[in-house]
Amino acid sequence: MINKIESLWESFQKEVTPLDKQADVLNLKAKYIGKKGLISEVMKGLRDASVEEKKLIGPKSNEVKKNIETSIQDKLKDIQISEMNEKLKKEKIDFSLRDSNLDLGLNSGGIHPVHQIQRSIEDIFLSMGFEVLDGPHIETEHYNFEALNIPETHPARDMQDTFWFKDKAHLLRTHTSTIQIRGMEERKAPFAFVGPGKVFRCERIDATHESCFHQLEGMMVGENINTGHLIYFMKTLLKEIFQKDMEVRLRPGYFPFVEPGFELDIRWKKPDPKDEEARHSGWLELLPCGMVHPNVLKAGGVDPDKYTGFAFGLGLDRLVMVNYKMDDIRYLHKGDLRFNSQFSHF
Ligand code: DAH
Repeated sequence: MINKIESLWESFQKEVTPLDKQADVLNLKAKYIGKKGLISEVMKGLRDASVEEKKLIGPKSNEVKKNIETSIQDKLKDIQISEMNEKLKKEKIDFSLRDSNLDLGLNSGGIHPVHQIQRSIEDIFLSMGFEVLDGPHIETEHYNFEALNIPETHPARDMQDTFWFKDKAHLLRTHTSTIQIRGMEERKAPFAFVGPGKVFRCERIDATHESCFHQLEGMMVGENINTGHLIYFMKTLLKEIFQKDMEVRLRPGYFPFVEPGFELDIRWKKPDPKDEEARHSGWLELLPCGMVHPNVLKAGGVDPDKYTGFAFGLGLDRLVMVNYKMDDIRYLHKGDLRFNSQFSHF
């Protein structure tokens, strides 16, 4: 019996060598060490073997089974590698390219500071149960103006110089407030969401104005939502961003889509290079917000007799500038690598 088992090992080796398909290897495995395989077949004779022989056969058959198992695994790995090489050759993937990039001294990229701030604010709101929504850059007059309580004749349309498409029906959204309407239409109160994104205005470009910049809109609608909720969420947001309790004040502000509307200011430093101490005083206008106008709730399909809500629109570029003490918004969008690479370690 010992001889039989040994010769099975030899014939297995002969059979496995030429195989080049995984399926054939697996069939061979079954043939030798499967339940009804050749080894099991031989082991049936164990009953008739002498005690001496039995002592040797057990370990021997285990050894051969183990060898077959290992050799099967090795073979499968070999086949996998050669199949992969074959594929690479066919698809002409050139692995040397990555190294040559490194040789050229190209470094890995980073996340733009505006998007870093956007992501961290999204995280803050997600943790407070808000959803994060998206909206189209190309909008209709309805979503950008009318549904936000800004009819055609309204002087507030002049507050935002708009890029119109030739059809006069479409425009590049001038604010992320469009997401308020789209968000309301798609859900039933109560709900809360934020909507970050690019906005566009036909501005004369200078240190504080760009024709494309970023906002993050926020909205919470439910029964009995009031100004207290608005202040609580805004203070929590600012505390997370600046990593400390911020002193805030509300001033009346006018936006047609909120009533009452506010400008929320934070206590901030006014740079005064002459006086170290007095560098840290003054208020900074940061966050326009308010209680959603009933007409806007109606336009979004929400019953204003039953529900109230607050909304806010945060300027992300402004926030980055404040955070990094930048004095010119144009740095953010120039694509100058000397500027951008300062943030690439994030
Ligand atoms: N959409 C306004 C703008 O771009 C900002 C804004 C003001 C948004 C008040 C709001 C709000 O949601 O309540 O100037």
